[in-house]
Amino acid sequence: MIDFTFQNPTKVIFGKDALNHLAEEIKRYGTKVLLVYGGGSVKRIGLYDQVISILNNQKASVWEISGVKPNPRLGLVREGIRLCRENSVELVLAMGGGSAIDTAKAIVNGVKYDGDVWDLFTGKGSNVEVLPLGTIVTLPAAGSEMSNSCVITREEDQCKRGRNTPLNFPKFSILNPEFTYSLPPYQTACGVVDIMAHIMERYFTTVEHVELTDRMAEGALKTVIDNAPLVMNSPEDYDARAEIMWAGCLAHNTLFETGRVGDWASHKLEHELSALYDIAHGAGLAIIFPAWMKYVLSKGNAKKLSQFAVRVLDVKADAGTEEEIAQEGIVRLDAFYRSVGLTTTLHENGIDERDFERMAERAVKMAGGVLGSFYPIRKVDALSIYRLAL
Ligand code: NZQ
Ligand code: ZN
Repeated sequence: MIDFTFQNPTKVIFGKDALNHLAEEIKRYGTKVLLVYGGGSVKRIGLYDQVISILNNQKASVWEISGVKPNPRLGLVREGIRLCRENSVELVLAMGGGSAIDTAKAIVNGVKYDGDVWDLFTGKGSNVEVLPLGTIVTLPAAGSEMSNSCVITREEDQCKRGRNTPLNFPKFSILNPEFTYSLPPYQTACGVVDIMAHIMERYFTTVEHVELTDRMAEGALKTVIDNAPLVMNSPEDYDARAEIMWAGCLAHNTLFETGRVGDWASHKLEHELSALYDIAHGAGLAIIFPAWMKYVLSKGNAKKLSQFAVRVLDVKADAGTEEEIAQEGIVRLDAFYRSVGLTTTLHENGIDERDFERMAERAVKMAGGVLGSFYPIRKVDALSIYRLAL
């Protein structure tokens, strides 16, 4: 285990009555509030009306940024920064999934930075403080509600970039599994894949003697795998939705990365897919992760991959060589993704090799020449992974 500092300051308010705590939080942070949400699901499920009613009771002044799209764009972030500055907003409140939350994160940072907010994503500039941010989660997936990450796409050149900083931790996040009942099966499935990917990116490490975090990760992965079919069959199964929601939150709050080094190559390779083809992040990961596993296994990394196969996907420990066991694990992971209704190849999504050069080049360049740490991915390796994903 390597040295680490773990601190996650986000207050998580979880459960059927979680929204009842919003008023206390507004009292704490201020009554000039900017709401950030997507294309309308928060209105359809009645959450928007409930929040407006709570804000009205607090005599809050409310501004709105709506219409956030999946793979959120920089344009709305700029608009939000302008609204905050013009109206001296005191609290930004995001409602929705990762896209609404990340838009809000970029806004709360950008308000406190004098230059162009995109500088914060390229590393050209930095801020030292943020406006307070609260979230109300309706889609367990990105884990942004408790993460230090924010991922935004600049529309001019389809450049999708993440920024990790402790400034991105929300002050509070409200999670009621009932808000996820309305999720279409596709979004639920994409969320499940993303949650698993956040755990797996940390699971596949070369750091040894990390038994506790290995076991926590395996437990979380098995919980998600067991509960996914339950919510697919019964979208209003509160307990199953709750398990997935809490797993999604823990998966990306850095707990599972303590004492070890995460990989993140699959995420970076996927971000190029979402940036160019605008496919859902989870759907892209269902394609990239098995391809990455096949590739790193071909380079000899059977020990950890076979441990994953045995402990997470119930491959028998005596089913063959370490490599055969690892291969069976990849087959089962692929089958699981398909069982929740997703595809696992690029062809099935109408994507061919024409942009591979550009995607591989950019993904590796953004990472400073080498992606990942479990196995170092250079441009040539990235190209091979994209080809394996065809
Ligand atoms: O726009 P609305 O109408 O709200 O519909 C959304 C959207 O179309 C819908 N939805 C959300 N909650 C719903 C619902 N529909 C019905 N009922 C509900 N309860 O779901 C669609 C997808 O929403 P989105 O927020 O885009 O999904 P997700 O949470 O997967 O976020 C994806 C974004 O997060 C980034 C991804 O790259 C992507 O841009 N990530 C952010 C991370 C972070 N900040 O820590 C980490 C992740 O690895 C990820 O990269
Ligand atoms: Zn992700």
